[in-house]
Amino acid sequence: MVTVEPAASLQGDLAVPGDKSISHRVLLLGAIADGESEVDGFGTSKDTLSTAAAVRALGGGVEVDGGRVRMEGVGPRGISEPAGPLDCGNAGTLMRLLPGILAGQDGRFELVGDESLSSRPMERIAEPLRAMGARVETADGHAPVVVEGGALRPVRWELPVASAQVKSCVLIAGLLASGPTTVVEPKPSRDHTERMLAAAGVRIARDRDRITVAAQDELELGALHVPGDPSSAAFHAAAAVLVPRSRIVIENMGANWTRTGFFRILRRMGGIVVGPLEEPSGGVPTEEPVCELDVANGPLLGTVVEPEEVPLAIDELPLVALLGCFAEGETVVRGAGELRLKESDRIATVVDGLRGLGGRIEATEDGFVVQGTGGLRGGSLEAHGDHRLAMLGAVAGLASREGVEVIGMEAAAVSYPGFEADLAALR
Ligand code: S3P
Repeated sequence: MVTVEPAASLQGDLAVPGDKSISHRVLLLGAIADGESEVDGFGTSKDTLSTAAAVRALGGGVEVDGGRVRMEGVGPRGISEPAGPLDCGNAGTLMRLLPGILAGQDGRFELVGDESLSSRPMERIAEPLRAMGARVETADGHAPVVVEGGALRPVRWELPVASAQVKSCVLIAGLLASGPTTVVEPKPSRDHTERMLAAAGVRIARDRDRITVAAQDELELGALHVPGDPSSAAFHAAAAVLVPRSRIVIENMGANWTRTGFFRILRRMGGIVVGPLEEPSGGVPTEEPVCELDVANGPLLGTVVEPEEVPLAIDELPLVALLGCFAEGETVVRGAGELRLKESDRIATVVDGLRGLGGRIEATEDGFVVQGTGGLRGGSLEAHGDHRLAMLGAVAGLASREGVEVIGMEAAAVSYPGFEADLAALR
């Protein structure tokens, strides 16, 4: 348990750790690259270390040295069967993307996870991989996931819900299929896999809601830079907006438009967020743009977050609820039923957590409605083993009148091991 006292002001410059989504992808694609890949800016966390361990167990070479990673890939079809089950820990991205690689390999692979990960839906990746010809078993829709790979045929897969993890799994499996594979997404979601494949020279194209990848016998990643994680930066940005007399600068943050929906919502609420965020473009860019953001305290107005915006801000929606408590008027999030399937049921845990701090917030089936009261009293918030909830509690503490006791603060290490120290340095 950690108690976070109210802050008088937050000031300073900071750089957040490397993007978690991109770091997972670098390791997974580096594993099936031909030869060496070099990475800088890598985000070391419990989740990404689970991926590094899985890659090693499959025969790939991974050396992590701070933000630098050197990898020795085994080539697109060179994965070897591990001695035992692959432990994905808490990492949903690992458990959902790795089967995309394994589906095209000879061998039998078993993926297990912790209690939270074992309660999350896995049929969403099993179904398309079966349609491509792999044998995939789940335990009633959940982990353990067992993949028996082999020859794959191409598919055209329509995602029932926007999910970058499922999209990525199918696209990666498509690299080893006998023809071009297409994924149709109902709404745009983060596109790191597409960009990384395009940068590696893979033929991949987007036509409106359709992404098509060509099969590929060779893969060269070369040197890659991982930008700072906007999902981690969002916590500091929210704190700077909420704590009086604050002004912070966030350096080297990923500005990919499919990840910065939260910052657009924050600006719409009246938040002072200055810095160039990438604009949407039609095709598949090969770059991950970065930006410097200047964030300052100021009053907020309630807003409505529409379903189209949800995948672009999915991991930051708990922060929208927190901002809503401090805003004038009502804040509504709808079309976000996926939040119930995250590391915790984030509709239930956010609503319970903020209510316990004095917030006026109601859960709906697919989101929440917050009545802004201009502030939060404070109290105690249980993280339920969910890293983003733990960090939400700490930010709420800084901005509250009486401070917040966060039960289970250590969960932050799943994505951001230095979070508490970085936040404290801004005081
Ligand atoms: C992620 C995609 C999102 C997100 C998760 C990371 C990714 O999940 O919530 O934290 O790296 O592709 P979904 O694909 O389930 O929306």
